[in-house]
Amino acid sequence: MFQNSLEYAKNQDTNDPLRSFRNQFHLPQDSNGDPLVYLCGNSLGLQPKTTSEYIAEVLDDWARLGVEGHTQARHPWLPYHEFLTENMAAIVGAKPSEVVVMNTLTTNLHLMMVSFYRPTKKKFKIVVESDTFPSDKYAVESQLRFHGIDPKDGLVLWKPREGEELCRFEDLEKIMEEQGEQIALLMIGSTNYYTGQSFPLKRITELGHRHQAKVGFDLAHGAGNIQPDLHNTGADFAVWCTYKYLNGGPGSLGGCFVHQRHGSTRHLVRFAGWWGHNKDTRFNMRHEFDPLPGAEGWQLSNPPILSMAAIRASFDIFAQAGFENIRKKSVRLTGYLEFLLDEMNLSQINVITPRNPEERGCQLSIQVKNSDRELHKKLTQAGVISDWREPDVIRVAPAPLYNSFEDVFLFAQKLKTCLKN
Ligand SMILES: Cc1ncc(COP(=O)(O)O)c(C=O)c1O
Repeated sequence: MFQNSLEYAKNQDTNDPLRSFRNQFHLPQDSNGDPLVYLCGNSLGLQPKTTSEYIAEVLDDWARLGVEGHTQARHPWLPYHEFLTENMAAIVGAKPSEVVVMNTLTTNLHLMMVSFYRPTKKKFKIVVESDTFPSDKYAVESQLRFHGIDPKDGLVLWKPREGEELCRFEDLEKIMEEQGEQIALLMIGSTNYYTGQSFPLKRITELGHRHQAKVGFDLAHGAGNIQPDLHNTGADFAVWCTYKYLNGGPGSLGGCFVHQRHGSTRHLVRFAGWWGHNKDTRFNMRHEFDPLPGAEGWQLSNPPILSMAAIRASFDIFAQAGFENIRKKSVRLTGYLEFLLDEMNLSQINVITPRNPEERGCQLSIQVKNSDRELHKKLTQAGVISDWREPDVIRVAPAPLYNSFEDVFLFAQKLKTCLKN
């Protein structure tokens, strides 16, 4: 199905319907001005060339209008987050009223747990996948402690079996069978940051709900990568960031999903702020908190418009490309990477990410046995931007909007050379 040659890779690029999008991004370059092989969109996505224009528009409106920009800017700042909503909803498969761009990921995770983790004496445990991202683990543990629960009693780890890297759904089922009565929340990374494993979100949600637990997902490595179809999963909530596959820029805002069945229930406990209050009376002040319906009702503060402008630039590119097309290319691009790694036929290399495209996004986590950080250093010197996770894993993520089949081919060549030397 694939071929191991530069000519083939270039030919794939020529026939790629999304090929023109690469040119819409700034590609980091080496000291000779040649583009680096950038495979790190799982950490920080690249900058669209239009980002500076979108930000310049806000700066210019601010300079010209001062405070009046809230209502008179070309994209007025008062409703600015709404300019992101439709594209955001399309990317994660939600209804527009179910999503909002606000705060940052860990902050949103806390806000969601305030509303959806309501432990009782009997039902108080939280399940996470065992190699969850540290910030998620710290957030979950601190929520347990906040409710007076020792994480030793309240945190349940969904672990891979001895000698395996990936989590099996049947082991989560077993946890629920054995401890379901005590489990209040399943908080799972939709796509695990380390292994690249994407979990079956709908099945997990149904499993959690069967045991009267709430279910939330961290889509940091899923948003803009897999098609999470959030609304149809039935999940209670989800959170993500916009600086990885969504190319919103370093430290940019987070996204949040609240399923529509919760969006209009006013009795849910939440930590509130004025941006979550009814837009019609927000500026009348001195009103009782009147939450907006939908995910918007969880907003706290008036948002950083400059950062939102960068996200808007990126989302407009996603909308032009169409997420179906992006995912379609992604499956082939990562498939090509897998093929080239297999072609190396080296027992030292073990791809720990699932082989089934439906159980992964674009990232492959490549375990290189008996290697250390030196290998990553060599790869970097050879012009590859990837990332290294201790003890012996290189994560590479060909992002379909700006990575090419040639990038993937060059990476495989360079890895081979580095391993030989
Ligand atoms: C899976 C996951 N969760 C949480 C975070 C933390 O995100 P933030 O710093 O935006 O809160 C990250 C950051 O990379 C992440 O990858």
